[in-house]
Amino acid sequence: MCGIVGYVGKNSAIEPVIQGLKALEYRGYDSAGISMLTDRDTLTVKQVGRVEALEEELAEHNSVKSRLAIGHTRWATHGSPTITNAHPHFNADESIMVVHNGIIENYQDIRTRLAKAGYKFVSQTDTEVIPHLIDHYLKTEGSFLKAFTATLKDLTGAYAIAAIHAQNPDTIYVARLSSPLVIGIGNGENFLASDPAAIMDHTKKVIYLNDYEVAEISASGVKIHDIKKAVEVKRAAEELDFDNEKAALGDFPHFMLKEIHEAPQTIQSAIRGRVRPETNTVKLGGLDNVAQQLQFIDRIVIVACGTSYYAGLVGEYLIEELAGIPVEVQLASEFKYRNEPFSRSTALLAISQSGETADTIAAIKKVENYGVLRLGIVNAVGSTIARMTDAGVYCHAGPEQSVASTKAFIAQVTVLAEIALHLSQGRSPLYKPLLNELVNLPEKAKQVLESADDIKKLAKKYANQRDFLYLGRNYSYPCALEGALKLKEISYIHAEGYAAGEMKHGPLAMIDKDFPTFALACDSPLLEKTLSSIEEIKARSGPVLAVATVGNKAITKLTADVIYVPKTHEQLQPLLIAIVIQLFSYYVAVEKGLNVDRPRNLAKSVTVE
Ligand code: F6R
Repeated sequence: MCGIVGYVGKNSAIEPVIQGLKALEYRGYDSAGISMLTDRDTLTVKQVGRVEALEEELAEHNSVKSRLAIGHTRWATHGSPTITNAHPHFNADESIMVVHNGIIENYQDIRTRLAKAGYKFVSQTDTEVIPHLIDHYLKTEGSFLKAFTATLKDLTGAYAIAAIHAQNPDTIYVARLSSPLVIGIGNGENFLASDPAAIMDHTKKVIYLNDYEVAEISASGVKIHDIKKAVEVKRAAEELDFDNEKAALGDFPHFMLKEIHEAPQTIQSAIRGRVRPETNTVKLGGLDNVAQQLQFIDRIVIVACGTSYYAGLVGEYLIEELAGIPVEVQLASEFKYRNEPFSRSTALLAISQSGETADTIAAIKKVENYGVLRLGIVNAVGSTIARMTDAGVYCHAGPEQSVASTKAFIAQVTVLAEIALHLSQGRSPLYKPLLNELVNLPEKAKQVLESADDIKKLAKKYANQRDFLYLGRNYSYPCALEGALKLKEISYIHAEGYAAGEMKHGPLAMIDKDFPTFALACDSPLLEKTLSSIEEIKARSGPVLAVATVGNKAITKLTADVIYVPKTHEQLQPLLIAIVIQLFSYYVAVEKGLNVDRPRNLAKSVTVE
């Protein structure tokens, strides 16, 4: 949520900041702004809407030269998307400018305190307290660094902050707590951003800032201070292993379609070097250093949000069936506030595409002092969750740009299957068949993608429905939940996912000719039962479309609207079903003329609780 970029150096600051903001739009896109120090003055320009609108506004100032600037793209938390609420925010004389990602939980108290001291507020945001508080401390603290540090000590919540000051024209001051912030090291120029993707066209050398650290960034260097221990920290830059070309749209009209079409490579990348049928082994290097501890684990708690949570539910079925270890999957936002018994033999497994989701981070933090093993399944390399867990397995899916998560789900389920196989230590009768089948999955995913035109036709037929039900059993049940989420978030159609067996316990009452059901009816020992549920829906005039395994004749008697997927083991079916439900949601949203990659009210990386 919200993206921050900054530049200080020998060249013009405006271009890299605007370019960086464009790369960060996935984090929020309701307004954008930039503040810069010019030869004689400061300049702040803000605009509602996309970064392009800000760029147009900036064109009016094209004679302005600046070598230091900070920018922000916003996802509104406090206050609606207006120019006044857009960042940067500043103090009364506009000498201190601040951009912020996260939430200042005690901002009301600080606001009241500052108002009593005569400070005036113009926005509804939590962020606006920061420049005023720095201003307040500047009167007594003697230096901007000290005033900035004193301000941070007053803030509770989560933040990544960048601040600039007209009287310190060579420096950008940054800090973070539970929100991502990376510093890019250039040659005579330095950068900062919420995500390395925003600066990696300029440099691949980066320094990640840790919680409770402040950095002073100038053209010639970076000074990091640990504000808890009050000491300076020396940290060498690391080299990013990240390919921006992968993030380009290519010939696809939307990132979502591109990313769905990457499913075969996604599975391939997730199994490469790990799944080895020739030696009948699964090698997960990321778990090597905790191999000993893993042997004593008798329970796993998976924490995640949204699509990653549904991948976790598939993981629950996989790990329990293959490894015989009890698994509980919890929404990270609930887990954080639950009081439950938690023994040392329990491992926490966090799943996150971005590695920056605030709720998931909070869930991991909750168990920090329990002495339990903290594992991660993360896509974004070097992200907060990747760094705060004891061990883990990367998804290697490459950057996911579309707000709706697609290939990440595929990668997460593939990794969960690998972890389940690894934990089973070869004891499950399914070990060898699944190990061998994983290698066939990229090709089978390709075959599913070949049905894209048929799925598009179905999407056209059903695009004007108001409601939708997704049904599945066993391994298909989490897919039903994920299918409903995907449809809701990008097409704004009300959709619910249900376990097929639950229909008669309530949801059947909703069914009529205007309430279609997407039945996930692939081959399984429980297929007969799913077909009975479809019969019950048909008997109440409910339209049904289905995904089934190729060769299934029974389904054709119930509906003509069927998408077939290749045969595979039930345990791996989610990887193929996911492609169908993702494509269906995509084409429905396109049919409705919606902004597929940037659905309303959402953002890609949810860094606020
Ligand atoms: C849905 C979607 C979200 C994310 C959720 C968790 O398509 O993208 O539900 O899955 O916000 O995000 P990560 O996986 O980054 O922790």
